[in-house]
Amino acid sequence: MSVSKLFEPITLRGTTIRNRAWLAAMCQYSVEKRDGVPTDWHLAHLGARAQGGFGLVMTEATAVSPEGRITPHDTGIWNDELAAAWRRITDFLRSQGATPAIQLAHAGRKASTRRGFPGEERGVASTEEGGWTPVGPSAIAFGDLVAPHELSSAEIATVIADFTAAARRAVDAGFEVLEIHGAHGYLMHQFLSPMSNQRTDEYGGSFPNRTRLLLQVVDAVRAEVGEQVPLIVRISATDWVEDQPAWTLDQSVELSRVLREHGVDLVDVSSGGNALVPIEVGPGYQVPLSTRIRTETGIATGAVGLITEPAQAEQVLRAGQADVVLLGRVALREPAWPQRAAHELGMEDAADAIYPPQYRRGVWA
Ligand SMILES: Cc1cc2nc3c(=O)[nH]c(=O)nc-3n(C[C@H](O)[C@H](O)[C@H](O)COP(=O)(O)O)c2cc1C
Repeated sequence: MSVSKLFEPITLRGTTIRNRAWLAAMCQYSVEKRDGVPTDWHLAHLGARAQGGFGLVMTEATAVSPEGRITPHDTGIWNDELAAAWRRITDFLRSQGATPAIQLAHAGRKASTRRGFPGEERGVASTEEGGWTPVGPSAIAFGDLVAPHELSSAEIATVIADFTAAARRAVDAGFEVLEIHGAHGYLMHQFLSPMSNQRTDEYGGSFPNRTRLLLQVVDAVRAEVGEQVPLIVRISATDWVEDQPAWTLDQSVELSRVLREHGVDLVDVSSGGNALVPIEVGPGYQVPLSTRIRTETGIATGAVGLITEPAQAEQVLRAGQADVVLLGRVALREPAWPQRAAHELGMEDAADAIYPPQYRRGVWA
């Protein structure tokens, strides 16, 4: 019998995930051909974390349309060639016992930047570098980036259709869980926050208007993929801005309540990204945001942000602060973090579930 929360499976709709240590979405900027097609890098990177025991393995922000990429080096899922390329990866993740999940994304006004690898310049990608004109709810630039083209109602309808088609392709490509990227100052978040949304039509102004696009995407995706597929929304629970109208934790609580009514299965609670403000970070710094959303709305949540130690992750789950934890940077340096966690939490019994037979000789002891 399992005594660790971290290694207790969790079932969302028709899908049971082997544990609650999930790989957070992390852009790899590794599509050298700039065609959105995931490469051997993505297979090796995601595959290693599936081999390493993560329960759910989330792709990087994967664009629903070419202009929805953050950089020309991002992956996408806007056509069938892309879906076919993902199939090889989802098959491998599943063969390792992990649940393949995709983060469906549109970068909006934060699109068309350079990837800024160490030694490379950052900033706006020029046309020669594969850049394009970004879009957004209003023609308000983020920092030094280009002011986006303000989406018309017809163009908003296209964004919804792009998410819907991407969701269909994702399921057909073998993804078992879908996450809509509503965080980090990307397009959905840009609509939510009055800092980036100053529209005067039905998509701007009041709370129902600013949340309309996200809810329309959720509803359209659900209608497309049916009732069996778990749907997650990642949100930035706060803009961390208090001196002007912005997106706040109170609004996130209200939004999460509505998302639950719309059949969203879990809210992945991050923060920030829509304002250039300093954020005080430290171990588990976003966990209290998850706690409040989970406690006040009853929706399942994921906690993320400097959760690096197995005992810490276990404590978050035991205290009822979240239903799952998502790990980002620690998983870059430790692809087999769950295997270390099983050892440190005294869950040697979990080894069968999280070590490939090829690696059993290397079990933590
Ligand atoms: C290299 C890198 C790429 C990231 N890309 C994404 C992304 O594609 N989508 C997303 O929602 N968050 C992205 N994030 C944020 C992570 O998912 C995570 O929320 C954040 O790193 C905090 O968790 P951590 O302290 O465990 O790293 C990225 C983070 C890193 C370090």
